[in-house]
Amino acid sequence: MEYRQGALEGMGIMRNVSHRFWRGKKVFITGHTGFKGSWLSFWLYEMGANVTGYALNPPTNPSLFELLKLKSKIKSVHGDVRDLNFLKENIRNAEIVFHLAAQPLVLESYKNPVDTYATNVMGTINLLEACREQKTLRAVVNVTTDKCYENREKPEIAYRENEPMGGFDPYSNSKACSELVTDSYRKAFYNSGAKVGIATARAGNVIGGGDFALDRLIPDCIRGIMNGEKITVRNPDSIRPWQHVLEPLAGYLLLAESLYKSPKEFSAGWNFGPKEKDAKSVLNIIETFCKIWGDDASYEIKKDPNAPHEASYLKLDSSKAKKKLLWKPRWNSEVAVKKTAEWYRAYLKKENVDKITSAQTESYYG
Ligand SMILES: NC(=O)c1ccc[n+]([C@@H]2O[C@H](COP(=O)([O-])OP(=O)(O)OC[C@H]3O[C@@H](n4cnc5c(N)ncnc54)[C@H](O)[C@@H]3O)[C@@H](O)[C@H]2O)c1
Repeated sequence: MEYRQGALEGMGIMRNVSHRFWRGKKVFITGHTGFKGSWLSFWLYEMGANVTGYALNPPTNPSLFELLKLKSKIKSVHGDVRDLNFLKENIRNAEIVFHLAAQPLVLESYKNPVDTYATNVMGTINLLEACREQKTLRAVVNVTTDKCYENREKPEIAYRENEPMGGFDPYSNSKACSELVTDSYRKAFYNSGAKVGIATARAGNVIGGGDFALDRLIPDCIRGIMNGEKITVRNPDSIRPWQHVLEPLAGYLLLAESLYKSPKEFSAGWNFGPKEKDAKSVLNIIETFCKIWGDDASYEIKKDPNAPHEASYLKLDSSKAKKKLLWKPRWNSEVAVKKTAEWYRAYLKKENVDKITSAQTESYYG
């Protein structure tokens, strides 16, 4: 493990993601064509891991997966997590598994609840079932969300890992189900993590370069700028836990390494939330973004009175990850917005996105 003294005041000892550990590791990632999956695949590729990705086509066009030319860097399999036999065929020889494939959007889950549950719940069951036959396997990290907790709508509560699961909308609820499924498999089939470490990871809204999804704040900003239009803000007062995508990814990597080395000790649920002061309103983030971007970015507020219910902000208590994994948030929301704007500026200037993605991953560790 690699440790260093935190550069920022009060951060204390932090653990770095270890290149030495990841070099040559056989890693299987579901959802590698998505936003977070592409960042994770690229980071692992750069550290010398032997990565196989398993997913449907990139969910957006353009996509980070295509821009980073990941098809030529890792083994990329076009596969559905609802197809158990195909999953079994492709997961062979994996040592470490990251499960990110999902239908990840709340609004889409209202339109397509059946597909959302099929992918997010049966997909998790199939993955854990496929993992059962793998003799080489040492660690599994199932990526869920902060929305998996039963939201008591009390802003003063910061949820800990042992709080009840819940979820109002089908997306949040399907992720709570994915959590429960993982817990059952861990107890029923994996002897509570005796040989293979199995954990779930819960993080909040992430931002970063290369996200082109619909109905997400920063991608909406970039589309506005590209079309020469004002950015439309529908929920200015919603408070969200803003994090750069590298924050939870660092947490997943540290968690997987710990599971690999001490499976029983780390087989559990883990929160990777931002600092409390980085829970900010949508309006605040838009204002920061426009200030950093400059003259050609501006916004207008257009509230949608018919928008379906979206849970209010749910705060995570990440003290367990801080104490036991030595993971800590490193970039506050302003730095996260700055890095994100920097990435899209390079993209719009048609610069090499490998270079900026790689530079940002490196600068994350200062
Ligand atoms: N982006 C966020 O802010 C955020 C926050 C909390 C949790 N998460 C979780 O992180 C994970 C990744 O999110 P993202 O933002 O990168 O999403 P994304 O939409 O960019 O990527 C989703 C990935 O899943 C794949 N996929 C979807 N259905 C599939 C299926 N049936 N079979 C195989 N692959 C399938 C897609 O092809 C894609 O690779 C998800 O599990 C999501 O719930 C994301």
